Amino acid sequence: MSKVIYKNLNTSPILAVGGSGVWLEDAAGKRYLDTCGGVAVSSLGHAHPRIAAAFEREAKNLAWAHAGSFTTAAAEELATRLVDSSGGLARAQFLSGGSEVMELAMKIAYQYQSERGLPDKSIFISRRQSYHGSTLGTLSISGNVQRQSVFGRLLPPAEFVSPCYAYRDQRADESEDQYGTRLAQELDEKIRVLGSENVAAFFAETVVGSTNGAVPAVPGYFRKIKAVCERHDVLLILDEVMAGMGRTGHLYAYADDGIVPDMVAVGKGLAAGYMPISALLISERIHSAMAQGSGVLGNGQTHVNHPLACAIALEVQQVIREENLLAQVRQRGEQLRSWLKESLADLDIVGDIRGRGLFVGVEFVESRATKEPFHGAGAYAAALKQEALQRGLLIYPGSGTAQGLLGNHVLFAPPFITSEDELGQMVERFSAVVRAVAH
Ligand SMILES: Cc1ncc(COP(=O)(O)O)c(C=O)c1O
Repeated sequence: MSKVIYKNLNTSPILAVGGSGVWLEDAAGKRYLDTCGGVAVSSLGHAHPRIAAAFEREAKNLAWAHAGSFTTAAAEELATRLVDSSGGLARAQFLSGGSEVMELAMKIAYQYQSERGLPDKSIFISRRQSYHGSTLGTLSISGNVQRQSVFGRLLPPAEFVSPCYAYRDQRADESEDQYGTRLAQELDEKIRVLGSENVAAFFAETVVGSTNGAVPAVPGYFRKIKAVCERHDVLLILDEVMAGMGRTGHLYAYADDGIVPDMVAVGKGLAAGYMPISALLISERIHSAMAQGSGVLGNGQTHVNHPLACAIALEVQQVIREENLLAQVRQRGEQLRSWLKESLADLDIVGDIRGRGLFVGVEFVESRATKEPFHGAGAYAAALKQEALQRGLLIYPGSGTAQGLLGNHVLFAPPFITSEDELGQMVERFSAVVRAVAH
């Protein structure tokens, strides 16, 4: 009997033994086509020869050095690379997972306010229908009813405003611009009610990932939100743990929104899953307030700026740049959306297909005309996943798409290296899975 604690405590997962490109292989030799990079992680696929070579080279050089005493060329170079592409952020720190860097963002937001002599600026505002991590801090700002439910009593208080979810919430008599303005006014009002002297930061996923299924904001939304934050001296912190590092066709998803936040968190795709590594980038204003204040970052963890993880992430980023993969992500993304629309056009339960780059969501409804959220909930998501697995297809379904408990979606996040032929196979097989599962 296994000694491993699994997510599903009563069933064993499949034993994975290998992978190559967009394919994963189990112990019985069955191959699975990966439409979702696991959970938007494997952007370069499996067994990439350059990454394998980098492991051998770097592991022979230096495994680990404590960040309290040492820095490394890899950490310096990776930070410079990420900062230089950020459009205005100044410093980066590396941790192991998305929750950790989002928790760090919360701590730095408060440390910054406090060291400026504004310790009352301590309230965090986030959006409903969002996910920012599994620690108690990050879960408290996650507008994800399902993931919060067990731990509700333990969570510190946080405030929430509406998501930017045009498919469901933009009114028929409203333009995208008016919708964005209405949401910015809602945030403005929320801050006024709480008192801007009490609010530290506003958090948002640039493109909402697992909770809603690849939902980008309407054009102009983030510019208006940023203006509200600036007006009230509130930090704007973007969570791109899932959407960042090329997934939308830009290194940072906010490039499409025409803004630069005060902080951004990235994770999953940073080392394409070859290493557990994440990063938080912050502005010079925030860094210098702390540097000239206490001079000490109020957070310490064992694997800060892990040398080997940074070196592998750097090689991953180098491959993405040299192979011009972001352009490919944009092109394949358009193909994916248009092929999905074509192949699912006759299914009335497919309500919306949206996203950016290779970050695409399919939302299910009871009927296209009414947009009534699909009734299937968790059972439908599980059935889709099971059917797909049987057919050798890895998909990432979710439920609670609309208002936290209702509705279903599937998130596509295939590796950046996916060929046209492989993309076509993903769409074809997915269409067959949807048709095979009772609805
Ligand atoms: C947007 C977002 N933020 C934070 C996290 C947490 O990251 P991790 O699971 O690596 O801790 C996730 C994970 O799915 C995420 O999608």
